[in-house]
Amino acid sequence: MSLKETLEQLKTDALSKIEATQTLDSLNEIRVQVLGKKGSITEVLRGMKDLSPEMRPVIGGFANEVRDTLTTELETKKEVLEEAALNAALEKETIDVSLPGQELNIGTSHILTQVMEEIEDVFLGLGYEIIEGYEIEQDHYNFERMNIPKDHPARDMQDSFYINDEILLRTHTSPIQARTMEKHDFSKGSLRMISPGKVFRRDSDDATHSHQFHQIEGLVVAEGITMGDLKGTLEVLLKKLFGEDREIRLRPSYFPFTEPSVEVDISCFKCGGKGCNVCKQTGWIEILGAGIIHPRVLEMSGIDSTKYSGFAFGLGPDRVAMLKYGVNDIRYFYQNDLRFLEQFRVKG
Ligand code: DAH
Repeated sequence: MSLKETLEQLKTDALSKIEATQTLDSLNEIRVQVLGKKGSITEVLRGMKDLSPEMRPVIGGFANEVRDTLTTELETKKEVLEEAALNAALEKETIDVSLPGQELNIGTSHILTQVMEEIEDVFLGLGYEIIEGYEIEQDHYNFERMNIPKDHPARDMQDSFYINDEILLRTHTSPIQARTMEKHDFSKGSLRMISPGKVFRRDSDDATHSHQFHQIEGLVVAEGITMGDLKGTLEVLLKKLFGEDREIRLRPSYFPFTEPSVEVDISCFKCGGKGCNVCKQTGWIEILGAGIIHPRVLEMSGIDSTKYSGFAFGLGPDRVAMLKYGVNDIRYFYQNDLRFLEQFRVKG
């Protein structure tokens, strides 16, 4: 047989083997046998050295043609077999719709957010507006307009982080009182709002103090507001938060922006008033500061204090959350430790 005939033969054999094969493995074997380094085409080409110089390129060219044809055929068959394998696998695969889905680890809102939203809901139900103040505040609103002038000793308790002499991180949410009052149009009705948010103080951090914490400011201004309105409102709130059989008690206190000022206590929700570790054996738990708005604070905001009066209060949601959930260190709220936070996952 001439070399050309051998190549012809080799091509015919290989093509029929490729045609007949049904697996990727055997197809690969054919490829190695025919086209591999030690394969049959290489072997045939070794015989080229015995050819005349005129015949060499002819046979060489033909050998390349055979190699190209076979390479293409192998590739095409490979694609066919791969597709068949995929289809077979897909056919075997059935979807069990009763299998439980993969649970996605979605987060939960922070416990302080939950407590603040609970409080907001109570006030929304009472027809209050929720207003946001500024965390970076002017000395003017944070202190002056709250009746705390530059040399007032009440400033000592509320040192803050100053950006310059006039701008600071607010030490309480009370400045929003002045900002809201000066804008309010009483021809459109009374003013009822709460304002939740972060406040900042130069405090050394310990179990009950943090340089950053939260407050919810409350403010009502209308004609004829009295201490009775304040007490009734806070009673609704505190019963919702701590249980319907809670009682509340007002004790005289002092804040520069209210007159009179009170400290509000609730009867202990743990012992009901008998005395325990939560209420430090007193039967009462101090929960917030409040009072009747000082006439000067109303006047500084352009409100006629002979016509209008109001009450205000400042509540600490951190403290509410600590009491409600038995958290004994305020710093847990700010450390972002998932072991702590996940205990308060919202169910649903
Ligand atoms: N701003 C006060 C504080 O941070 C809390 C407070 C007390 C707010 C009495 C009030 C209030 O509105 O009436 O210590």
